[in-house]
Amino acid sequence: MPHDALPRDGGPVIEVDRLTKRYGGTTAVRQLSFTVRPGRVTGFLGPNGAGKTTTLRMLLGLVEPTSGAATVDGHTVRRYPRGLRHVGALLDAGDVHGGRTARAHLHALARSNRIPAHRVDEVLAEVGLAGAPAGRRVGGYSLGMKQRLGIATALLGDPPALLFDEPLNGLDPEGVLWVRGLFRRLAGEGRTVFVSSHLMSEMENTADELVVIGRGELIAAESLTEFAARGTRPTVTVRTPDAGTLAAALSAEGAAVAPYDGETLKVTGLSSDRIGEIAFEHGLLLRELATETASLEAAFMELTADSVEYLAGEPR
Ligand SMILES: Nc1ncnc2c1ncn2[C@@H]1O[C@H](COP(=O)(O)OP(=O)(O)OP(=O)(O)O)[C@@H](O)[C@H]1O
Ligand SMILES: [Mg+2]
Repeated sequence: MPHDALPRDGGPVIEVDRLTKRYGGTTAVRQLSFTVRPGRVTGFLGPNGAGKTTTLRMLLGLVEPTSGAATVDGHTVRRYPRGLRHVGALLDAGDVHGGRTARAHLHALARSNRIPAHRVDEVLAEVGLAGAPAGRRVGGYSLGMKQRLGIATALLGDPPALLFDEPLNGLDPEGVLWVRGLFRRLAGEGRTVFVSSHLMSEMENTADELVVIGRGELIAAESLTEFAARGTRPTVTVRTPDAGTLAAALSAEGAAVAPYDGETLKVTGLSSDRIGEIAFEHGLLLRELATETASLEAAFMELTADSVEYLAGEPR
């Protein structure tokens, strides 16, 4: 969908401009530039260690950039006097005084940010922690409950811009559905919603726009639809009792053929129409002929393959 067709509603624009962060010899973020617009959910994707958390911390004024700028509505966030009313954030859900109750934690934040006290019960209800759980010490919370409290904290000041770092971690399936709905609603209200994840599957049904990074650098910034169209080579699954003969015939036509099991081939480089014709020309019986469009997950893995830092099973 073209950007201009979506509501703008005056929500803030997040702007990252040639942002760089070095820690000693490590460059966590390198010359990163992108824009996050209001009225939609933008997913911030990258493999482990890509620089997502570092970027979000710079956006929140918690880490000083080495160079470049990260702004919300043209300002660096620390310039705002009462931060939670402008930008709400969930960074590290575990970063709460464990001896406090959820309600006490939110009341303290509400006071210091001049947020009306009634917001505390509103957000507790919104995240499903109202009643008894709100009166329990946060130290005894499960990961999912901490995550819900973190989301409540982000919502407390009713901010027009919201940043979430891996908010789906630890949530059960019902929680994941709820968070997706919440993000959609916040974006629908014209807010700017920026959500990080290292899993494309989490963003697939959540984000309208994607910012993809790897090793601190920008890989893609575009709509989910545009992203899905990249790097996708459809694979055709063919099942036939004459797999060997068909494989040879398809290879001769330039297809890449991978035997899957005794009867099944996975074919790229030829359309299912063409594969059907070739089988017909050779008098071969087909029991299945199906095109699988590559998943978003596959496109994500293909695009970030060169920037995955921690590969399981790799020799050191
Ligand atoms: N305080 C720090 N000191 C030194 N290096 C750091 C620091 N913070 C981050 N880094 C390094 O910067 C890089 C990016 O880390 P970051 O946490 O931003 O990645 P991420 O995309 O959030 O990863 P994950 O998906 O695992 O959360 C990593 O190589 C990390 O080791
Ligand atoms: Mg992170």
